[in-house]
Amino acid sequence: MELVYVAFGSNLGDRAAHIDAALDRLRLTPGVEVLRQSDRLETDFVGVGPDQGKFLNGVIELKTSLTPLALLSVLQALEVAAGRALPHQVNHPRELDLDIVLFGARTIDTRDLQVPHPHFYERDFVREPLRQLGVDVDKYVSVSTPVVIDSNAALAAKTVEWAAGGCSVGLVPTMGSLHRGHQSLMDIAREQCDRVIVTVFVNPLQFGPSEDFAAYPRDLDGDLAICREAGVDVLFAPSSKEMFDDGFCSDVQVGAEAEGMEGDVREGHFQGVATVVARLFAMSRPHRAYFGEKDAQQIAVVRRMACDLGFPLEVVPCAIVREPDGLAMSSRNVYLSPADRKASSVLSRALCSAREQFRNGVCDRDQLLQHMAEVLASEPRCTVDYFELRREGDLSALPPGDVSGGRLLVAGKFVEGSQPVRLLDNLSLVSEDFS
Ligand code: PAJ
Repeated sequence: MELVYVAFGSNLGDRAAHIDAALDRLRLTPGVEVLRQSDRLETDFVGVGPDQGKFLNGVIELKTSLTPLALLSVLQALEVAAGRALPHQVNHPRELDLDIVLFGARTIDTRDLQVPHPHFYERDFVREPLRQLGVDVDKYVSVSTPVVIDSNAALAAKTVEWAAGGCSVGLVPTMGSLHRGHQSLMDIAREQCDRVIVTVFVNPLQFGPSEDFAAYPRDLDGDLAICREAGVDVLFAPSSKEMFDDGFCSDVQVGAEAEGMEGDVREGHFQGVATVVARLFAMSRPHRAYFGEKDAQQIAVVRRMACDLGFPLEVVPCAIVREPDGLAMSSRNVYLSPADRKASSVLSRALCSAREQFRNGVCDRDQLLQHMAEVLASEPRCTVDYFELRREGDLSALPPGDVSGGRLLVAGKFVEGSQPVRLLDNLSLVSEDFS
């Protein structure tokens, strides 16, 4: 028999009656011996969406000879018996919620069950009843997500466990200094996957010798806070040595997708990106990987690489998140001087303005580009690296003449701040984004 703690909560109908009925049924369940229950606490709804009725919460202590999954089925049957509809809807009022919080000393991380319950330490209405029942709650402080992992071996162990437990995994590769743009990728991953890994690694392979590798902003505590808010399961933040040991020598070559635009301005950049992303794919075995359209050429390169190397995953492009004036969010924006920050909206203005021309019937590529050139030239603080109109998707060159769509891309430098800042932006001609 193992000692188990089950949290209960109800905020719909006769709350006490739902809990009492479940306890009565549990007492009659073979292989289950109910020992004690905590006091019941009345707590406010905490979650997203409209306010709901107050909850009645507490914890049951029981012993069981059932397996964790068998006990889970019993508890789910009790939730349904109380009137709860299946499948459970997130953030809806519920007649009864029964969660296994602790199951002996076991750690379980499968699609259907996570023990210890990943969020219990953050919830007073579970922590306090457990304390009342004599559980040494503080020893579980490290259970709260995300789990921070810095070694390849620990990441591999986690992903093997998730694969065995039937979990779908979403990967969000980043270089940290996270902002709302990154967070939007995490939110989409959270919606689509059972488990979410965010990686934070400032990848030396993708910076040229004269680029800002050393000065790239780093803020792991801030990153952790954002990952926690987004409900990320694992934050993988390896050292350079852990990622690329002394003998590391394998490289991923890149082709047509890496030519032109960023590929021309930043020699070797996409080879470095493709190599680190391939390594992250191999280590974290994701079903889906999330990339921002801000770096549209990066998506084209990564898609090609994933297809060529046979990674069985979906590359999910995510829309650009912008500041109110249109500037695409970027970790490097913090280095812009106030005047450059103001001027930097010229990039998105140029894109929007060309799209407006397109909407008004201008379909000639050169005319649209000429229009962008005029808007960009109106801002002397911006040194333009390139502006282009490319085919949607693989971003290959479009022939001159009529276009029925495509993506406008631009990059420019601003040099007045504490260090020069290169900014990228792009916009699909047919998108409704940012009008
Ligand atoms: P980083 O610049 O940190 O960006 C991580 C991811 O966040 C990228 O997919 C990027 O496109 C996305 N992102 C950044 N700003 C965004 C915004 N304003 N809106 C939407 N998405 C945004 O890109 C890299 O890191 C690296 O090259 C990496 C893929 C991690 C490989 O080292």
